[in-house]
Amino acid sequence: MRLLAGTVALLATAVSGDVLSWTESVSGVQYNVAIPETAAAPFDIYTSIVSPINMTWAALAFGGCMLRSPILVAWANGTNVAVSPRWATAYHPPAAYNGTTTTVLKTSTVNATHWKADIVCTGCSAWFGGAASIPALGSTVFGYGVSNHSLGNPALLSTSIPYHNVAKGHWELNITAARNSASDFTKLTTPA
Ligand SMILES: *[C@@H]1O[C@H](CO)[C@@H](O)[C@H](O)[C@H]1NC(C)=O
Ligand SMILES: *[C@@H]1O[C@H](CO)[C@@H](O)[C@H](O)[C@H]1NC(C)=O
Ligand SMILES: *[C@@H]1O[C@H](CO)[C@@H](O)[C@H](O)[C@H]1NC(C)=O
Ligand SMILES: *[C@@H]1O[C@H](CO)[C@@H](O)[C@H](O)[C@H]1NC(C)=O
Ligand SMILES: *[C@@H]1O[C@H](CO)[C@@H](O)[C@H](O)[C@H]1NC(C)=O
Ligand SMILES: *[C@@H]1O[C@H](CO)[C@@H](O)[C@H](O)[C@H]1NC(C)=O
Repeated sequence: MRLLAGTVALLATAVSGDVLSWTESVSGVQYNVAIPETAAAPFDIYTSIVSPINMTWAALAFGGCMLRSPILVAWANGTNVAVSPRWATAYHPPAAYNGTTTTVLKTSTVNATHWKADIVCTGCSAWFGGAASIPALGSTVFGYGVSNHSLGNPALLSTSIPYHNVAKGHWELNITAARNSASDFTKLTTPA
């Protein structure tokens, strides 16, 4: 297959069920993604971000680049996790974004070594009124950023976000491997 220019040739592989998993090597942050079996966007996206506790935030950008696509920034807020939808039009800390709806699942955890944000996002698969979207099959590219600098105020969803000093970039995935039947996707996104 053809890799996008500049893409690190690290194809994510499918793990348990149809959740596709990729680990950023500098921070150790693991990104997990699942989608429903559907023909095309818009569709809900499940993502689980598992981060070593010494990372203050980790983000996923659904358009593959920091700019002009939905971004989810996650962090530990005490014993819970917070997830803030953001959007960037320049290489500055991204601003709040109202085009996505996120649900933080109760399977999210914070313990002595890691924080884990299990998220369902509505609005992360298509933006600009549907003019831009991610495919439901085949290759796509997600962006990421990770920091270990302190957040302005972890208790506020609108907190200032420090620079992604630990890691930033993009990773290519074959989203076909992240597809789930409607019932499996419902199970994943509505934990008992
Ligand atoms: C985070 O903590 C782990 C475990 O203590 C350590 O191995 C790693 O180097 C730390 N990472 C950074 C970027 O400080
Ligand atoms: C969402 O953000 C856009 C762009 O900033 C703004 O025009 C719109 O009024 C906002 N919508 C709501 C419901 O806040
Ligand atoms: C802490 O959370 C991480 C991420 O969910 C998990 O892999 C690890 O097993 C947990 N540690 C303990 C002691 O439960
Ligand atoms: C994605 O995976 C599917 C199923 O394994 C495969 O048929 C398809 O060729 C892959 N597409 C790309 C772009 O690698
Ligand atoms: C962070 O935790 C505090 C204390 O539980 C809570 O009041 C606040 O709403 C939380 N903030 C976010 C963004 O989840
Ligand atoms: C933050 O990460 C850098 C590596 O990117 C590391 O050198 C530094 O020690 C870390 N700082 C803290 C407070 O863990």
